Amino acid sequence: ITEGEEGMSKKYKELVLSLPCAKFWDHILYKYQGYWMPSRQLNGIISFQKYFKAQNSDIILCTFPKSGTTWLKALVYTTLNRSHCAPNSATHPLLACNPHNLVPYFEMQIYGDENENPNLENLPNPRIFATHLPFSLLPPSISYSNCRIVYICRNPLDQLISYWYFFTSPSPNYNETNSIEELVKMFEEGICMYGPFWDHVLEYWNKSIERKDRILFLYYEDLKEDIISQSIRLADFLGLPFSEEEKDKGVIEDISRLCSFRNLKELEVNKSEDLWPGVPNNIFFRKGEVGDWVNHLSPAMVEKIKKLVEEKFKDSGITF
Ligand code: A3P
Repeated sequence: ITEGEEGMSKKYKELVLSLPCAKFWDHILYKYQGYWMPSRQLNGIISFQKYFKAQNSDIILCTFPKSGTTWLKALVYTTLNRSHCAPNSATHPLLACNPHNLVPYFEMQIYGDENENPNLENLPNPRIFATHLPFSLLPPSISYSNCRIVYICRNPLDQLISYWYFFTSPSPNYNETNSIEELVKMFEEGICMYGPFWDHVLEYWNKSIERKDRILFLYYEDLKEDIISQSIRLADFLGLPFSEEEKDKGVIEDISRLCSFRNLKELEVNKSEDLWPGVPNNIFFRKGEVGDWVNHLSPAMVEKIKKLVEEKFKDSGITF
């Protein structure tokens, strides 16, 4: 890797050049503090770690990529703002903005572009942020403060397929079978953005057991199965439980409808606008189903991944 490599930070160049690196499709990953980080985001990651000061009221959404981040952002934003922004209102911000613009990522949006000193003091309270960083890499002030963390995790087979589409769909020249095989191989070696997957999940899982009041661990599949009870759990955890009156008025149903895959996918903003140059909003709304992996992975690949997952999550209590 040379100095001119994509996204190479000038400021942290020396540190970055000393890290192990690997190729992941068209991207370069660096092994930083035990995890494979995209070169383009390293600068933002390091600045986030160095400069972010958490407040007790902050809400931080943490996810492994392609696990349901967009959905979680929509749900948390809508739940927290429901008193002044009714989820059935025709002017709700989610109708005009992609969830990633309402709840920004630290490493990509807030501390991206060499921005070390973003003005975060005047954001409405509670501030809601997101990150793909594993727990052990979060800035110390998050651990010391009483801010709340919500983590969403997804069956790795579906997560992998979602990942595969995300990274291959913009590129017209891929070989379908080889690409998935290659992805499975890299996944097994732990080499994928923010991977290894199992370490990422286990860190949040273990912390969520230690600190139930501060870390809520959700499964994408549970949300798909019963969004109402999971929304109640989420609101309780966020410290804003639904009142009986809200329940009677159907506020939970309104939130789940507004944030549903079908609704968000069909919004004009998500159909036709870009989040960043080359990243259309519609890339975050593909199929939104559980079990789509059966259409893509061979029995041999499935067996390999299942065996690995069984081994890595053995005795943890995590159920996929
Ligand atoms: P698929 O590729 O399986 O369709 P992330 O938001 O972490 O990038 O994850 C993207 C995955 O979540 C995609 O999965 C996407 O379709 C799905 N998704 C996005 N919004 C959703 C929603 N409101 N409800 C359910 N799934 C959603």
